[in-house]
Amino acid sequence: MFSSESLTILKIGGSVITDKRAEDGVVRVNEIHRIAQEISGFQKKLIIVHGAGSFGHPQAKKFSLSEQFNVAGSIITHLSVKDLCNIVVGILNEHNISAVGVHPMCCMLADNGRIKTMFLDHIYCMLERDIIPVLHGDVVMDNSLGTSVISGDQIVPYLAKQMKAGLLGIGSATEGVLDNKGSTIPVITPKNFRNVKQHIGGSENTDVTGGMLGKVQEMLELSDNGYITSRIFNASKPGNIERFLKGEKIGTAITHEQI
Ligand SMILES: Nc1ncnc2c1ncn2[C@@H]1O[C@H](COP(=O)(O)OP(=O)(O)O)[C@@H](O)[C@H]1O
Ligand SMILES: [Mg+2]
Repeated sequence: MFSSESLTILKIGGSVITDKRAEDGVVRVNEIHRIAQEISGFQKKLIIVHGAGSFGHPQAKKFSLSEQFNVAGSIITHLSVKDLCNIVVGILNEHNISAVGVHPMCCMLADNGRIKTMFLDHIYCMLERDIIPVLHGDVVMDNSLGTSVISGDQIVPYLAKQMKAGLLGIGSATEGVLDNKGSTIPVITPKNFRNVKQHIGGSENTDVTGGMLGKVQEMLELSDNGYITSRIFNASKPGNIERFLKGEKIGTAITHEQI
């Protein structure tokens, strides 16, 4: 039977699996193979959420999807991130990882840019049968706006809260959240966030969902609800995903209490 304490949710940033400087979908196949290898030994229940990188952000920007409803632009962007998901899922299966793509457009509804509802029954069912659901940043239908761009960084805390995950990691392409000297900030709590916020910004590449500050705010909101500690770490560094999955305390912890 599915036990939520043993659920791990791992986000792999678009900055890791794609070339985010590109204007249109450039995938880093070797990186996905490396990541698949690191995940392949993991025995517990796992949900993977990957970012959109250059398969989603430049398209969303081109069609101003965060500002206005655009049918053609929404569909082009959705199809593009779906392509990336298919590549990721294909490579995971090559490494004997039973992964299935779950596209948020097909099972999620947003309101004003925030996730309102999501069908989760099939995800529980997959986990019970040792299938790894692979979700991703996507364009989804939105009650108020028509469509909205939903970041993987928003999907991770939503799932963590709904499904009461035990381990939560956000893999990106920096050592964690960095201060003004480039050192990794070990812990961010609601208390020190006011001070460290000045050092945290958006993305240096195209990212319509808030870059590092967006991540920290999403994870703080989750921890603020008295729930779970998450870690932002460097998934571009070989070995780090495996270390995170083993429970090592790498990167920056986002938590409601001092640890
Ligand atoms: N204080 C900070 N520490 C780390 N990264 C930061 C910080 N401030 C801004 N950033 C930027 O945020 C980026 C991470 O966000 P993003 O590009 O959205 O990653 P992802 O593709 O993993 O979602 C970093 O590559 C960096 O350019
Ligand atoms: Mg991002």
